[in-house]
Amino acid sequence: MKFFLDTADVEQIKRALEWGILDGVTTNPTLISKTGRPFKEVVKEILEIVDGPVSLETVSLDAKGMIEEGRTLAKMGDNVVVKIPMTPEGMKAVRVLEAEGIPTNVTLVFSPVQALIAAKAGASYVSPFVGRVDDVSGEGMKLIREVKEIFMNYEIDTEIIVASVRHPMHVLEAALIGADICTMPFAVMEKLFKHPLTDKGIELFLKDWEKVPDRPF
Ligand code: E4P
Repeated sequence: MKFFLDTADVEQIKRALEWGILDGVTTNPTLISKTGRPFKEVVKEILEIVDGPVSLETVSLDAKGMIEEGRTLAKMGDNVVVKIPMTPEGMKAVRVLEAEGIPTNVTLVFSPVQALIAAKAGASYVSPFVGRVDDVSGEGMKLIREVKEIFMNYEIDTEIIVASVRHPMHVLEAALIGADICTMPFAVMEKLFKHPLTDKGIELFLKDWEKVPDRPF
């Protein structure tokens, strides 16, 4: 499973790149706005340091506007993926952009059939939002299981990005289901490394190492 960061914070992206486990980045208007920085400046920096796919979102509500915005975003870098909301207008835009060789990521997907529609429109990626489904007392991971089953039934190539991830259990379940990608906040990625027995084990080994005579270091 590929690990994406769901952020527009360049420092967080740099840290994840140093860990060597970052495969791509997803952004949205809220995440860009949280940086407090000019759009072009922050996106340029992200595209300079990330080799993998970087999703940038359109804001128009009509297909024409989304297509124009998508073309503008795609010109910013070879690895740009244009994020399009799951609406009928959005699916029109997906078909046009994909035909032009511009990869799309259909966002704000909350039902398995919406994911199927995105795939039928030709999207490269689809982003079901698990955390927001959980927030309204639904079962976010059930959505991923069903999307995966449908895509397997029809050998659909569209990659599933598990989005709106809130905790490491979402990441674990996404991997068990076999999702292609999990996009997560930096705080979640950081938590994936942690286990109390790892810390305890290191402490014990260091203590015992002190007792070893003639140590090379
Ligand atoms: C997906 O690409 C979105 O950017 C994101 O995962 C939304 O997450 P949120 O529900 O935490 O805002």
